[in-house]
Amino acid sequence: MKAKKVVSLLMAGAMALSMAACGSTASNSGSSSSGSSSKSTSTSSSKSGGKTVGISMPTKSLERWNRDGSYLKKQFESKGYKVELTYSDNKSAQQNNDIEGLIADKVDVLVVAAIDGEALSQVLGEAKDANIPVISYDRLIMNTDSISYYVSFDNYKVGQLQGNYIKDQLKLDSAGSKKYTIEMTGGDPADNNAPFFFKGAMDVLQPYIDKGVLTVPSGQTKFNQCATDRWDTSTAMKRMQNILGSYYSGGKQLDAALCSNDSTALGVTKAIESDYAGKNKVLITGQDGDEPNLKNIVDGKQSMTVYKAVANEAVVTLDLAIQIMDGKKPDASLIKSSGWKFDCAYDTKSYDNGKGIVPSYLLTPEVVTKDNMDKLLVDTGYYKKGSDGYLKAVG
Ligand code: BGC
Repeated sequence: MKAKKVVSLLMAGAMALSMAACGSTASNSGSSSSGSSSKSTSTSSSKSGGKTVGISMPTKSLERWNRDGSYLKKQFESKGYKVELTYSDNKSAQQNNDIEGLIADKVDVLVVAAIDGEALSQVLGEAKDANIPVISYDRLIMNTDSISYYVSFDNYKVGQLQGNYIKDQLKLDSAGSKKYTIEMTGGDPADNNAPFFFKGAMDVLQPYIDKGVLTVPSGQTKFNQCATDRWDTSTAMKRMQNILGSYYSGGKQLDAALCSNDSTALGVTKAIESDYAGKNKVLITGQDGDEPNLKNIVDGKQSMTVYKAVANEAVVTLDLAIQIMDGKKPDASLIKSSGWKFDCAYDTKSYDNGKGIVPSYLLTPEVVTKDNMDKLLVDTGYYKKGSDGYLKAVG
């Protein structure tokens, strides 16, 4: 496990967002795939003045980034921009090289979802020297003054939704003398989002742990004890198998498994299938709406996921990037002028990357369960339901 990164979290600020309801069309149609190579390039019409957008995504091995890359590419191309899209196989050194390549290609703006939020200061300094503005996409890039804006979801709220789901399902407020058990699985310590998710959930759950209503047999309640390098499914699975072997082998019941996202939930679900002797249904949380997890929700193996409409994240990124490329200085007014039809807040308090506050556009996450899945994911056009009853992302 990596040493804990120093993150400047202004959680109080995260709670004090000035939410603005906005209206425009949420595009949810993306091109189908960015192909198997790590870089793809497109051509465009002249509307954009021949400008090129460089997009650096972390990896294809975590499902959502395939959707992000595809939606972003489609959005920018629809306005006539050229797109260079790279995937860096979850390797930080490779992401540095890929971004250097985009700078050498003289892209007009960079959109970067960092693998390691602390490892890009130097290469983004080169982008700044070359006058290329950078949008930190979904994950905040730390310790650099080279990024102009941050586009993401309300990451603290993602965790709150997970924590509240567990609280409500276990009816912790009316538990009386009943006690429930829980184990936690967090995300990648190199990802600045991961502690936000964890803290959002723990701020809900910790009071019940303190009261003794919730117990954690492994004793692992700190982010660094629960973190999962690179959000890796098998890493999460092995850790949970160890916990089950060490603390639940004598027939102890596990009631809930807080998992910060779907790739870790997948590992935890596998561990429970293979190594848990209890017969109860363990509550398992997630985030993203990855296809295997939505299948598990339909099959009753995972309880919920926090869905983030990354199609809308791409729309915000497009409108923001256009203003930046046009030499404007976007602020809260972008929300109104763009006319988005989804909630988005402009936040100038919550995200400090160690060099100062980064102005942020934050979208709103939603809880998806078996009961509202069709309404929130299929009726909105983000997914299609197959004849087998399972959902497939449209993207
Ligand atoms: C994203 C999550 C995702 C995780 C792993 C985070 O930065 O916000 O949506 O589950 O990375 O890909």
